[in-house]
Parts: sequence; C-alpha cells; structure tokens
Amino acid sequence: MGRGRATGLIGLLAAALAAVVAMTAVRAAWADPDPPLGGRAGVHEGVASCSGSTCHSRPAPSGLTVRQNELITWQDPHSEAGAHSRAWKVLTQPRAEAISAKLGLGPAERAPACLGCHADPAPPAQRGARFQLSDGVGCEACHGGAGGWIASHYALGATHAANVSRGMLALDEPKVRAARCLDCHFGGPSPNQFVTHQMMAAGHPQIAFELDLFTALQKHHDVDADYIARHKVAAGGVKTWAVGQAMALDRSLTLFGAKNPGGVFPEFLFFDCQSCHRTFSNDPKWRPVSEPNPGRPIPVGTPPFNDENMIMLSAAAKVAAPALSARFEGEVKSFHQALAQNGAVAASQAAKLAATSRELADAFNARSFSRADTLAIFEAVLSGDNARRYTDFEGVTQAVMAADTLLGSLVAEGAIDRAAAARLRPDLDRAYQAVRDPTAFHAAEARAALQQAADKARGLK
Ligand code: HEC
Ligand code: HEC
Ligand code: HEC
Ligand code: HEC
Repeated sequence: MGRGRATGLIGLLAAALAAVVAMTAVRAAWADPDPPLGGRAGVHEGVASCSGSTCHSRPAPSGLTVRQNELITWQDPHSEAGAHSRAWKVLTQPRAEAISAKLGLGPAERAPACLGCHADPAPPAQRGARFQLSDGVGCEACHGGAGGWIASHYALGATHAANVSRGMLALDEPKVRAARCLDCHFGGPSPNQFVTHQMMAAGHPQIAFELDLFTALQKHHDVDADYIARHKVAAGGVKTWAVGQAMALDRSLTLFGAKNPGGVFPEFLFFDCQSCHRTFSNDPKWRPVSEPNPGRPIPVGTPPFNDENMIMLSAAAKVAAPALSARFEGEVKSFHQALAQNGAVAASQAAKLAATSRELADAFNARSFSRADTLAIFEAVLSGDNARRYTDFEGVTQAVMAADTLLGSLVAEGAIDRAAAARLRPDLDRAYQAVRDPTAFHAAEARAALQQAADKARGLK
C-alpha cells in the first residue's frame, strides 16, 4: 500500500462497509479495445462532453435514472472518489518529476510511460476535439469511448444493453470491471501501463488493489432500487471480490510471462518486495526474519513470487469452486518450486496456473454466494492453512482488505448486524496498522490481529 495512503484508506473503510456492488454474467475482456463500430464509435469525446448541469454535473438529484452528479463526485478534491480526476495533476508535482528525471523520461506529464495510467490511454487517433490528457482518468477511461453512444444513452428508452452494444463497457460485470481496473492498478500488456521495479526504485509507490473495496472507494454513482433493476444485481460484494482475485492472479501470471526486461534478472515487480529489501547483520545474535511458508515449498534464500492472490483464491476455491481446488493448490506449489529451479518450466507452470485462474473466475461468476458461503470464505481466508501463509507484507495487505470486503458485504446484505461487525473492527484496524509502512511490517502482529478477527467471526455463524 502506498506510503501514507493506508491512513486515508482506514478512514474510508467504514464507508466501504456500506457499499454493495455485485453483478452477473460472463463477458471476457482482456484489455479490450473499444468495439470496432462505425462512425464515431470508440472515440473518446472527453470529460467536457459529460459535464453540464443537465448531464453528469447536476447539483440536485434528477429523480431520473441516475443521480447525475457523478462528475462532481469524480472531481471531489477531498476524497478517494476524486482520485482519478487528480491522476494527471500528480504527474506535474515534484515527486513525479523526480521519478521521471531519474528514469530519463523527460517531463512526467508528457511521458507515455506515465500517461498510460495517469490519464485516459486512448490513442491519439481515438481522441475527440474535447479530449484532454489533463482530465486524468476520465469517464471514458473506464466506461469506454462514448463516440458511439453519447447521443443515444440519454434518449428516451435507452437501455444498458443498447449502450453496451454501441461501445459502452459493461462495468457492472465483475470480469469486465476487473480487467479495466487491473490495466492501471496492476498493469496491462501495453508498455505504457506497467510500473516496473525501476520505476518503484525511482520512487513510485507500491500499488495495492482489491476490486470490491476499490470500487467502493471510488464510487461516484448511486446503487438504488432503480440501479439494481437495471443491472440485475444478484449477489453481494463477495462475488466481485472472488472474481477480482482470480482475474488479478491471471493478470500477474500472464504479464510475468510477457514482461521481461531482457537483462540477467527477471522483472522484480512480481516478487515479494521485502524478501530482498530486508536488513541483515553479521552479528551472531542476529536472527533472520524470513519464515517458512507452507504455501510455497521453496529453499530459503529464493525470492518468493508475490502470492497474495493465490492465498485468497485457495480460500475462495475451497468454498466456492471445490472441483477446481485440489488442482489449483497443486499448480500453485509446482509453480513456486519451478521458479526456484528452472525458468522455462516456471513459465509453462505460470501459463497453466493462469488458465486455472480463468476457470476460477468463470466458476465464481456463474454462481451465487450465500451468507454461509461468505462466512466460510471469511474463515478460510483468515485461519487454518491460510493463516500460516501470511509471512509477507503483500499477503497480509490482501487479507485485511478481504476481511473488510467480506464483512462489508455481510453487513450490506443484512446477513450480520452492524454491532457484530463493529466488534471485529479493532482487529482489522490493527491489521491495517501493521501494513501501513512496508519497512515497519511485523508479520506476527498482523497474523495475531487477523486470527482474532477470525475467532470473533466464528461467533457470527
Ligand atoms: C500501471 C499503471 C501506472 C503507471 C504506468 C504509472 N503509474 Fe503512477 N500510480 C499508479 C497508481 C494505481 C497509483 C496509486 C497508487 C496507490 O496509492 O494505490 C499511482 C501513484 C503515483 C504517484 C503518487 C500519487 C499520489 O497521489 O501521491 C506518483 C507520484 C506517480 N504515480 C507517478 C508516476 C510516474 C512519474 C509514472 C511514470 C514514470 C507513473 N506514475 C506510471 C499507476 C501507474
Ligand atoms: C475508475 C473508473 C471509472 C471512472 C473514471 C468513471 N466511472 Fe462511472 N462507474 C464506474 C464503475 C465501476 C461503475 C459501477 C458499475 C456500473 O454501474 O457500470 C460506474 C457507474 C457509473 C454510473 C451509474 C450507472 C448506472 O447504470 O446507474 C454513472 C452514471 C457513471 N458511472 C458515470 C460516470 C461519469 C460521468 C464519469 C466521469 C465524470 C465516470 N463515471 C467516471 C467506473 C468509473
Ligand atoms: C487509466 C488508468 C486507471 C484505471 C482504468 C483505473 N484507475 Fe484507479 N487510479 C489510477 C491512478 C493513476 C490512481 C492514483 C491517482 C492519484 O494518486 O491521484 C488511481 C486511484 C484510485 C483510487 C484511489 C485510492 C488510491 O489508491 O489512491 C481508487 C479507489 C481507484 N483508483 C479505484 C479504481 C477502480 C475500482 C477502477 C476500475 C473500475 C480503477 N480505479 C480504474 C488509474 C486508473
Ligand atoms: C529480487 C530482489 C528484489 C525484489 C523482489 C525487489 N527489489 Fe527493489 N531493489 C532490488 C535491488 C537489487 C535494488 C538496487 C539496490 C541498489 O541500488 O542499491 C533495488 C532497489 C529498490 C529501491 C530503491 C532503493 C534505494 O534506496 O535506492 C526501491 C524503492 C525498491 N527497490 C522497491 C521495491 C519494491 C516496491 C519491490 C516490490 C514490488 C521490490 N523493490 C522488489 C532488489 C529487489
């Protein structure tokens, strides 16, 4: 999690509790280009095309289909919901300029390697007259170029399906949404959408992501009865969470195969940061801090692949895709072992595991999740075999976000009451505290806090 960012997150997590966003249906999307339709289809018209007091900048509720103040929320200078409107501006600030200067990229606000994520990445040929890079991550960076639907989507009788057929992205579907967010909140196949270890070394913050929680944090729309009728929302946030985990693992393994700087070393971004960035001493009294981890049978001294999503998926698969669970566990172990032994074998194991992750995404997407499922996943994430796998900063960060999301969705569905959820809050806060600063991370403290949350959750069954 970005230095200092966690503080802000903690405050907002309470708000996240209230959010429930869950969706249906399958629609594959891997960094999908906007669909090739005729005319202006796929053209990114620019945020100015969405503003206007009768469009998405309406101060008072319209009483119509959507609240229509989405642009005002997207621009909110004081909240995480406004972060995307600031994404380009941060490139003009000293921290960003220092990063790009170290990398020899010239001014960050003009560097393609930064603009791919800090602005709408539409290629120049797809930019309309009102398109501005300085708008940052504008509406169409997520919802898709509006050229094909801007005129029709507010016409009488417009439907979500018709909008989608004209090029609007179906972000209500977890797989589509995950693919779009991951392009920037992990990385995509484009060379301009990847934070390399060199960028991290030059000062870029670490990126943490969990689909459901981050959706709640950037929420700029109302989820009311009308929204649910339109999008047929069926399940709680747990489905979005589970699909998001599977999509994230697929993405990281697929990019691991594709992104290789070509030097002696692999791209370090995919490995646990602390495994290399630890202090050590020749003092005979000094004791190494690395711990054995039953989830990855690798020799001491081998940098472990960042397994945060694998740990979450172990828990989710056991409960919600038991037919795939044993295969998944086996492939995870083989992948870790191969990494320590043979690069070519590791690459083929990565491809296998990525394929299984995609099967998991489909399995989660196709089912609904009951209260009992969510409680069982909560328990499986935090205790049993999983509990012994929280040796790394990244894994613990993902676990605490998972606990938060799962608890939030139970509350939102009315499956547990607020007071019961509030009793777990101090434990989650302690776990968040443990991952505030990667250099001050104490795995044992974080594990104890997560275990306490799990113990209390058992009483909720
Ligand atoms: C793969 C997408 C991606 C690329 C490429 C990328 N960034 Fe970022 N950047 C992000 C995300 C996501 C965050 C927010 C991280 C967080 O806090 O979770 C961020 C955060 C930052 C921040 C901290 C902003 C703040 O609010 O404190 C700076 C500065 C920054 N990036 C600069 C750059 C520069 C300079 C480049 C080019 C060298 C670059 N970024 C390339 C995705 C990217
Ligand atoms: C970071 C990605 C992102 C950006 C940027 C973004 N949105 Fe959204 N938006 C979403 C997601 C995710 C949802 C929830 C899923 C859905 O309903 O499609 C959503 C939902 C909405 C909805 C509700 C749709 C409905 O059917 O009720 C509206 C309206 C909307 N956004 C408008 C905008 C406008 C206008 C902007 C620009 C000012 C914008 N969005 C920027 C991701 C984004
Ligand atoms: C085109 C790139 C891009 C896409 C697509 C994108 N984001 Fe972001 N997002 C960013 C950048 C860059 C930042 C950091 C901006 C800053 O620091 O001001 C950010 C910040 C955020 C934040 C604020 C918290 C933080 O880490 O600073 C949330 C929450 C968030 N994004 C959620 C989402 C979700 C959910 C989606 C998918 C629906 C999404 N984003 C899609 C680029 C993107
Ligand atoms: C396989 C080992 C390895 C892994 C894994 C690794 N790094 Fe590094 N990192 C290095 C090396 C080697 C350097 C260069 C050290 C030097 O220049 O003295 C470095 C440099 C850095 C620096 C600059 C340090 C400085 O003071 O100049 C930062 C920041 C950094 N890494 C962050 C990260 C982050 C964040 C991750 C996880 C995403 C990560 N590293 C993963 C080995 C690693």
